[in-house]
Amino acid sequence: MTFAVSRRSRRRIAWTAVAVSAVGVALFSAVTYLTGDPTLSRIPLNPAIALHYLTIVAHALPASLVLLIGPFQFAAKLRTRRPKLHRVLGRIYVVSMIFAAAAALAAATFSVDGISAQIAFYLLAVAWLYTLYRGYTFIRQGQIQLHRIWMIRNYALSFAAVVLRGFLGIGAAAKSIVPTLSFADIYSTSAWGSIMVCVVVAEYFVINRTVAPLVRKRQAADIPS
Ligand code: HEM
Repeated sequence: MTFAVSRRSRRRIAWTAVAVSAVGVALFSAVTYLTGDPTLSRIPLNPAIALHYLTIVAHALPASLVLLIGPFQFAAKLRTRRPKLHRVLGRIYVVSMIFAAAAALAAATFSVDGISAQIAFYLLAVAWLYTLYRGYTFIRQGQIQLHRIWMIRNYALSFAAVVLRGFLGIGAAAKSIVPTLSFADIYSTSAWGSIMVCVVVAEYFVINRTVAPLVRKRQAADIPS
């Protein structure tokens, strides 16, 4: 017996999976760091830097907002029926991300999880801001397709936070088999792994959904009848 799942249904399933996991991680993170209790930090704090916890809170709260808003910005129905809401949420997304990225740069500097994780987070923060800048400037110029491409890339980087938590879960399971694994090993491997997965998946979407249809259209126009 074969099940034919339409492209539309596949898109809906993928969107729902992204939205549910993003909202879940965002709410869980926000609730943990809204307490303001450093003993509840899920990562080790730098004992020499009193500000470390504050930078994590200043990062985690606006970053959670970014993660929460993102899926709704990609929902075509919402975008076409409520364009004003799309613009308002878009502005909140931009401002939240600027704060979250600035705090992430400070948190990465104070991190005790090793140079590999620190470099991964620096690169991620810079790529986050760069893709945001490109997405924002293209929409200001009225270039909708290019705005869409850069915002797919941008949200994919935000979604690395969700994939990272998944990898950390796998890492915790691996530690029960290989007890010599340190938290820093698991954290840095998960950070790099999550970036890689999200970048590759984003490029797959960009090429399949945006570039490939344009190339096909152009090729069809080039074929003389
Ligand atoms: C994509 C760009 C991002 C960068 C560059 C980044 C960077 C960082 C850095 C440097 C830390 C501290 C790590 C340490 O001290 O070792 C951190 C922790 C954290 N980040 Fe992000 N992050 C990003 C996205 C997000 C998003 C979208 C969320 C949304 C939930 C998030 C939530 C958190 C939380 C909750 C922590 C505290 C650790 C934990 O409880 O798991 N981050 N992040």
